[in-house]
Amino acid sequence: MNQPLPGGVASINAPSYVKNQKLIDWVAEIATLTKPDSIYWCDGSKEEYDRLCQELVDAGTMRPLNPAKRPNSFLALSDPSDVARVEDRTYICTQKQEDAGPTNNWVAPAEMRATLNGLFDGAMRGRTMYVIPFSMGPLGSPIAHIGVELTDSPYVVISMGVMTRMGRAVYDVIGANGHFVPCVHTVGAPLAAGEKDVPWPCNPTKYIVHYPETREIWSFGSGYGGNALLGKKCFALRIASNMGHDEGWLAEHMLILGVQSPEGKKHYVAAAFPSACGKTNFAMLVPPAGLNGWKVTTIGEDIAWIKPGADGRLYAINPEAGYFGVAPGTNEHTNVNCMLSMRRDTVFTNVALTDDGDVWWEGMTDEPPSHLIDWQGRDWTPQIAKETGRKAAHPNSRFTVAATQNPVLDPAWDDPNGVPISAFIFGGRRSTTVPLVTEARDWVEGVYMAATMGSETTAAATGAQGVVRRDPFAMLPFIGYNMSEYFQHWIDIGSKLQAAGATLPRFYCVNWFRTDENGKFIWPGFGDNMRVLKWIVERVENKAGGTDHAFGITPSYGDLKWDGLQFSEQAYGKITSIDKGEWQAEVKLHTELFDKLKYKLPAELESTRQKLEKRIA
Ligand code: GTP
Ligand code: SPV
Ligand code: MN
Repeated sequence: MNQPLPGGVASINAPSYVKNQKLIDWVAEIATLTKPDSIYWCDGSKEEYDRLCQELVDAGTMRPLNPAKRPNSFLALSDPSDVARVEDRTYICTQKQEDAGPTNNWVAPAEMRATLNGLFDGAMRGRTMYVIPFSMGPLGSPIAHIGVELTDSPYVVISMGVMTRMGRAVYDVIGANGHFVPCVHTVGAPLAAGEKDVPWPCNPTKYIVHYPETREIWSFGSGYGGNALLGKKCFALRIASNMGHDEGWLAEHMLILGVQSPEGKKHYVAAAFPSACGKTNFAMLVPPAGLNGWKVTTIGEDIAWIKPGADGRLYAINPEAGYFGVAPGTNEHTNVNCMLSMRRDTVFTNVALTDDGDVWWEGMTDEPPSHLIDWQGRDWTPQIAKETGRKAAHPNSRFTVAATQNPVLDPAWDDPNGVPISAFIFGGRRSTTVPLVTEARDWVEGVYMAATMGSETTAAATGAQGVVRRDPFAMLPFIGYNMSEYFQHWIDIGSKLQAAGATLPRFYCVNWFRTDENGKFIWPGFGDNMRVLKWIVERVENKAGGTDHAFGITPSYGDLKWDGLQFSEQAYGKITSIDKGEWQAEVKLHTELFDKLKYKLPAELESTRQKLEKRIA
């Protein structure tokens, strides 16, 4: 197995502990195609992480931060063209187009393979191809799945090392014959002999491709986030949603948190908010002073894999091991746990650099520093910002940090069996129309609420921002198959559990983002979201009041606890009112969505829509 490959390509060099011949053959096949100078099998050790960080510093991709300020931490600055997920370049390649559905970009697999074979041919020339073995979920857990990513980006290697359980032990799990999801990634920037590399190689052409039927991922041209860390959105959502559909479980864009009352009663809830709409913040929430005794702990902050347990309840695990979180807006007041998590051992990407070698981003402090180097390496001052509108940090700048650095990590976060879910919460970013919180009256109404959710677009994906789009289940960019079948899958899981006599989790719809006449958020959000979470778990226990309206059940002012917060009944009215005209317009948008999803749309959803239409007529 250590013979050189055809065409003068590096030898495979598989370590003796790699016993899986399918894996070795596949590595050889991809190396033959992409023609790297050498192949490196990652072991996931601390020594390896430190060495690759040093190489990234030497290459100019990262710079070390001041160790007195932020030990063992780095700042990476990407190419300005490679800063977010590229949804318009993301493909679901099924044999039949209807299996990808109307919400996914589709190309027939054979045609896409021909295109990619051309692009990947020689794409790793002059570079090292890294073999990254990783587990999504606790190693060896019955809920976990294994992937292997081949990449020519050392930045991807160190990021995958933090974001997943990565390293040598994974080879023991797959053994000689075990299954793994093959993930191929290149930045698409081969180097000619003697050519000097750039700090952030990438290619203006990008392809993020999934073959659900063969469970494969191919990614070309980007080194950023969900485009390149293939365990995350590509595997844990797009491929895993297919696995879940076939096997009777759910792969969701959800945080999972534990919430404990002052009496010590604990619930776990899972919440789906679209990208950059508050999952990480909600998952690490610090209850406000007026709600002493309540405690929130984190299981996960971006992705949940959820399976029915033997007792009929739904159990969730966090398949990830780290957080790739939005930096802007994070500070000591909005999310102190997050700030504490990144005090050391953190990789920051596209934030600004302070003169004393630390990091800064918009919203970190009220007063910006008087001078910074911005995310594009240029001088930045508050004056320059005023004149040009330039941000110091990119709006989608992020931190990468191990889950174990979170001071409120839940003790069960690593439990291979997962935690039982009491409630699902869905929330978009809506400046109007949608009330602070609404409870669905039953499972189908809950699926309807989640399916018709709208949200204003954010910087987490390239494209226009602040535009309301339907983002069903916060999964629009992440469902790896036909969305109507995905709705049906949710309905089926509910009816199956109900038929077995299980108490189902309840559904809630939240909106932290209604604004006033001046465009300012009315609701304080962050820690004060605990007031809503408290109501939710008390509803689950049938202890809290609520008022029925056209769309579901919402608490009256007196149903929430206001201790420690000045928030008038009048302001509360502004964020909970149901305006008939607005809702008539909203239901029109539901109708448009359902028209688009007509093929295989569950009949229950259309009849729920008709009921809603009558209620607001
Ligand atoms: P992804 O990692 O892209 O999936 O994002 P996310 O859903 O984890 O969002 P995150 O918690 O990182 O928040 C995104 C942005 O929304 C940040 O700028 C936060 O400061 C802001 N944000 C989060 N929660 C709230 C809230 O309750 N109210 C307001 N006004 N802003 C919030
Ligand atoms: C998101 O966009 O939902 C993220 C960031 O969590 S990324 O990993 O880039 O997908
Ligand atoms: Mn996300």
